[in-house]
Amino acid sequence: MLKPGPIGVFDSGYGGLTILSEIQSLMPEYDYCYLGDNSRAPYGSRSFDVVYEFTRQAVEALFDMGCNLVILACNTASAKALRTIQQNDLPSLNPEKRVLGIIRPTAEIIGSVTKSRHVGILGTIGTIQSESYPIEIHKLHPDIQVTGEACPMWVPLVENREYDKEGADYFIKENLDSILAKDPLIDTLILGCTHYPLLLNKIKSFLPENIQLVSQGEYIARSLKDYLNRHPEMDAVCTKTANTHYFTTESPQKFSEAATVFLNKDIVVDRLSLE
Ligand code: DGL
Repeated sequence: MLKPGPIGVFDSGYGGLTILSEIQSLMPEYDYCYLGDNSRAPYGSRSFDVVYEFTRQAVEALFDMGCNLVILACNTASAKALRTIQQNDLPSLNPEKRVLGIIRPTAEIIGSVTKSRHVGILGTIGTIQSESYPIEIHKLHPDIQVTGEACPMWVPLVENREYDKEGADYFIKENLDSILAKDPLIDTLILGCTHYPLLLNKIKSFLPENIQLVSQGEYIARSLKDYLNRHPEMDAVCTKTANTHYFTTESPQKFSEAATVFLNKDIVVDRLSLE
């Protein structure tokens, strides 16, 4: 029998806060436990084995803190670790607990967004190389043509708070030109990395008006709400006192300063070691 606890939200660093804030807005009554593995971020260019190992450690830590449901609010971790954790680790860790990712819910909605049936994915090297987006999209919408573009400079631009400065323009334009040259029929671009919503205005400014941008947060929030409606047994073990506890594997002070950029509010953060 599971003991009620908060919903765990994991990211390699700050990016998952863009997902958490949408979840909090839609479901403010729930408790959350956010963990950012900032000391080992970015995950984007790390190997499959390393991303899997780090993510498994984080899931175990969130389970130990009482979470029964953990959301991998990181595309790279969802792409490289989710399936293995669900299939290999969950049965021995605790078969009643659940780990969900953010790629499948994004793939689900894309069929109703694109008209041209040509979709582009912007993400980290790891997410694009894993082919997770084309695989998940094709399971649901086999007619959609999917083109990926790795944007390795975009996360550092956000982390270093350069996202609204002129220096960011070069890298953003370069990747957008590249993906649209690969498939000029694209009418929908998925921001397949949790940091990219902070670049939204800049990205929009370089795109023709007919191209729609899909930012994941609101879809992930709706999908989580729907999941809890369909799984009342899990909802019953999610505590609801409207509290969020933040943890980082780096300096709490550094985390809380940077987090204000993502959350627009001050937060209290604790340090946690995963090694
Ligand atoms: N959070 C990661 C993602 O959504 C990006 C940051 C990283 O590379 O660790 O892919």
